[in-house]
Amino acid sequence: MDKIIVNGGKPLYGTVAIGGMKNSALPVISACILTGETCIIDNVPMVSDIKLLLEILAASGAEVKILSSTSVQINCKNIQPCSSPDDLASQLRGSSYLLGAELGRFGEASVILPGGCSIGSRPLDFHMKAFEALGAQCHIRNGHIEVETTEELRGNTIFFDKVSVGATVNSILASVYAEGTTVIENAAREPHIVDLAVFLNACGANITGAGTSVIKVKGVKELHGCRYSIAPDMIEAGTYMVAAATVGGRVTVTNIIPKHLESVTNKLIEAGINVTVGDSYITVESCGKYKAVDIATQPYPGFPTDMQAQFSTMLCYAQGTSKVTDNIFPSRFRFVDELTKTGANVSVESNTAVIKGVESTGCAPLTCHDLRAGAAMVIAALRSEGASEITGIDKIQRGYVNIVEKFAALGADIKLVMDMGSVSYTSATN
Ligand code: UD1
Repeated sequence: MDKIIVNGGKPLYGTVAIGGMKNSALPVISACILTGETCIIDNVPMVSDIKLLLEILAASGAEVKILSSTSVQINCKNIQPCSSPDDLASQLRGSSYLLGAELGRFGEASVILPGGCSIGSRPLDFHMKAFEALGAQCHIRNGHIEVETTEELRGNTIFFDKVSVGATVNSILASVYAEGTTVIENAAREPHIVDLAVFLNACGANITGAGTSVIKVKGVKELHGCRYSIAPDMIEAGTYMVAAATVGGRVTVTNIIPKHLESVTNKLIEAGINVTVGDSYITVESCGKYKAVDIATQPYPGFPTDMQAQFSTMLCYAQGTSKVTDNIFPSRFRFVDELTKTGANVSVESNTAVIKGVESTGCAPLTCHDLRAGAAMVIAALRSEGASEITGIDKIQRGYVNIVEKFAALGADIKLVMDMGSVSYTSATN
């Protein structure tokens, strides 16, 4: 079993260049299905979730060429709808985007019920409601979601009771070619939605309002290929910022859009951390001592649920008691059991964790239960005195490129130990 070993207690100093956003790359790569022409996507984070999606496209008939460590060329001229391999698609939440893209281009789609991180119930009813509003029929059969239409899809108003990133993405993908205008109300406003709309408009789509809660999609007759660069990953950036605040030191995250991180930045400042915001960078300076703060996750621009586990871990060492409420995924607190093994004082009731800060914690074997919880385990290990062993790190590799190398470059004593007896060390710089 691959694992990460961390000798904690060393402050972090230096600069981390942030890569492209996984949660943008998934919809943008899926959107390539909508055109038969070639698209080149740059600033792609080659994490395991993205590699899986590219594998699914290739297995369905797309030509996929890796141009560099961050660029990929995709041509979906010969892609076949309803042909994503179950064993691959079942591993990835983002495979649900094949539904909207294939329905939009071919009028039919079928995908095995998607997997992804286990962070609580993740239904697809809003997605199906959106497809039906456009005139498609949806069924769940033999563990697959099947969507089809016998006539042209028609633009309509789609209203979501609750903001959903995935359902907003699928509504956009399915309506790009629909006749007339589709209005998506109570749409998600996340930067990844804006990225998808900008990419599709560069291919010839007519989408306005992305980044607001009302998005209008005027159907077009065809899309062409284009070259597009994915926006920076605000969650990767936020993870290094929170790590620096927790462990102490001075870390600058570069190649970012600071606006995307406002909710995280504001909470760090409220906790008493020194934060400097530049035009495309943020510097976090910390002595490892800070105040307790309360957090409640909300859709963007609120505090992201994808930063909840990392921030909760930071608050385990705060002066005072914090309350963390997850309004998006109420049961996203499995990682708390791991933290309490180290001596952290956290109790969870319903969708709220009450965290009583302690000065320091010891070490314990830590397991990653999901992607962001995995990043939280690394932060806990970096702060704990002594050696920690982290397992289940395939979860971390779903969404972080070179996390071990990046922390090592900041001065952490961290190494990746590969299975099969072979040990690969990254150089701990101090
Ligand atoms: C996406 C992100 C994930 C992030 C989440 C919230 C990707 C690949 N994943 O997940 O990292 O944590 O947004 O920012 O981009 N819901 C329903 N019915 C539906 C769809 C959603 O009830 O059909 C509910 C969910 O249970 C949840 C809320 O809506 O409570 C928001 O979920 P959603 O925004 O759809 O999350 P994902 O798109 O799955």
